[in-house]
Amino acid sequence: MSVAVLLLLGLGLLEAEGRRNRCFFNRTQEYCTCYNLSEETAGSLIQCLAATVVEFRGGDLEKYMDFPIRDLDDAAIDTLGSLIIEKVIISSVLVPEILLARVLRFFSYTHVKELVFDSCVFQGTGDWHEMDGQRLPIFSLSFHNVTSAPLMGNETAFSSLSTWLETLQELAVTSSQVSSLPCAIGSMFRVLHTLDLAHNSLGDRSLAPAFCKGAFPQLQVLSLQHNNLMSYHSVCESVQRLQELQDLNLSQNKLMAAPSSSCQWPASLRIFNLSNTGLDKVLTPLPPNLEVLDVSHNHLRAVDISISSLKKLFLSQNFLQAVPSIRNYPMLDTLRLDNNSITELPWDEVTLLAHLQDVAAANNPFDCSCSGAGGLQALAAKGHLGQGWPQDYTCQSPPGYQGWRVAAVPVSVLRCHRAAVIAPLCVALALLSLAGAFLLLRSRLCHRGGCWTPPTGASPRELHENAHRPPK
Ligand SMILES: *[C@@H]1O[C@H](CO)[C@@H](O)[C@H](O)[C@H]1NC(C)=O
Ligand SMILES: *[C@@H]1O[C@H](CO)[C@@H](O)[C@H](O)[C@H]1NC(C)=O
Ligand SMILES: *[C@@H]1O[C@H](CO)[C@@H](O)[C@H](O)[C@H]1NC(C)=O
Ligand SMILES: *[C@@H]1O[C@H](CO)[C@@H](O)[C@H](O)[C@H]1NC(C)=O
Ligand SMILES: *[C@@H]1O[C@H](CO)[C@@H](O)[C@H](O)[C@H]1NC(C)=O
Ligand SMILES: *[C@@H]1O[C@H](CO)[C@@H](O)[C@H](O)[C@H]1NC(C)=O
Ligand SMILES: *[C@@H]1O[C@H](CO)[C@@H](O)[C@H](O)[C@H]1NC(C)=O
Repeated sequence: MSVAVLLLLGLGLLEAEGRRNRCFFNRTQEYCTCYNLSEETAGSLIQCLAATVVEFRGGDLEKYMDFPIRDLDDAAIDTLGSLIIEKVIISSVLVPEILLARVLRFFSYTHVKELVFDSCVFQGTGDWHEMDGQRLPIFSLSFHNVTSAPLMGNETAFSSLSTWLETLQELAVTSSQVSSLPCAIGSMFRVLHTLDLAHNSLGDRSLAPAFCKGAFPQLQVLSLQHNNLMSYHSVCESVQRLQELQDLNLSQNKLMAAPSSSCQWPASLRIFNLSNTGLDKVLTPLPPNLEVLDVSHNHLRAVDISISSLKKLFLSQNFLQAVPSIRNYPMLDTLRLDNNSITELPWDEVTLLAHLQDVAAANNPFDCSCSGAGGLQALAAKGHLGQGWPQDYTCQSPPGYQGWRVAAVPVSVLRCHRAAVIAPLCVALALLSLAGAFLLLRSRLCHRGGCWTPPTGASPRELHENAHRPPK
């Protein structure tokens, strides 16, 4: 069920009566929280039998370090096998590593798929040999804000855990001051598809060994958000061996270009997050088959890239003065332009894109003469303008409309849709001249005698009504 319960089972303490309730079950969330982990927790754990998630919050396991841990008997194994718990969270607990190394194997009797350590302190070093050849059902393992994650940096531990780690699919080690990842670790994770290393201290130099040849061969999703990365091209060189990589998050690093690099990103890359990376221009090369590009929160003044596969483009919070040429993105469905210096949306281009259905351009200094206001209103009318309409769309110019909401600007047909006005005008003129010719002809015919007149007795009004009546 959990390190804690297994531990307690191992200690033979499950029978002990808790003096007061420590576990609280939330039925709607199927979530059980147990406070202050100790042997007294055991008596309350019965509360958690119907939970799919159990969180153990607070506690110090140091005093159990030297307890002898027996193998489980059949009854205990049956009990573990009948539990429905899928996720165990251990938060703010002091965990002696030696204890963890001894109880981890008991997870093999459970259906726990996810194990999370949050704000834990791991103490000492474990002897992991009991895990030799051991399979576990856990496929997702997370460490968040931990000091010295037990798996990091100890290759002895890794060889004992390899049977399990080979099957792990998701690993997160976040906010834990990780500054390097030895090459040997990556090659152990044969089927890992998601690796989250956000909020650590990884630098450009630590990436190359981490993603050395043969490391993480199945990796699809990689987050390096908020580390100490600086060189766009050395990141590219480090990850270019990841041939399955689809989603790379480099946001919140301070990236710069190294001009003389010919590195190519993996062709599999579809989602690329360069948000908040201090860019003043979009760096090249970009991955060739991108579908989602986030370059929001940068210092971009212009964007001149052409990626025909692109579906979502995030450009909010930059210094753009114009919308990039949308024709370069025929597949685009989402375009975010909030908080820029854009005065006008090229509405004819925007409305022509067949897939475009989610546009946001709040907080821009719009020029509300004609096309500016008209384009935005047309988009809004189609339901394509997202959050912020109408309250966050205001006019900066012309002076007469400064401070107005774009939605409130009257868009007169004559001033705006010139093409739309001129075409009917021509038709009308043509009709007029035709009518003139007809009148001329008629007057000539009448002069020669025998002129067409309405049937007698019918007033002009009746004639009019007859014309509008459906035929019988
Ligand atoms: C957990 O321990 C803290 C102090 O160590 C105490 O204040 C708190 O009431 C305990 N919580 C429960 C549910 O026993
Ligand atoms: C259970 O969780 C839901 C959703 O967070 C919350 O609204 C509800 O108050 C919780 N119930 C109890 C008994 O704490
Ligand atoms: C991180 O974990 C430590 C305990 O190791 C805790 O004191 C601290 O509050 C945690 N920080 C956050 C942001 O959760
Ligand atoms: C790794 O673990 C072994 C025991 O399995 C221990 O003897 C060794 O000191 C540990 N090494 C590090 C670097 O923690
Ligand atoms: C990082 O960016 C990816 C897209 O590359 C996104 O899916 C993920 O949610 C982002 N991470 C965070 C913590 O926002
Ligand atoms: C990019 O990462 C940031 C966090 O740094 C996140 O807020 C944003 O949603 C991500 N963008 C995408 C498109 O997932
Ligand atoms: C735009 O700026 C406003 C105010 O500075 C902020 O509240 C909002 O979150 C920003 N929007 C985006 C999408 O960055």
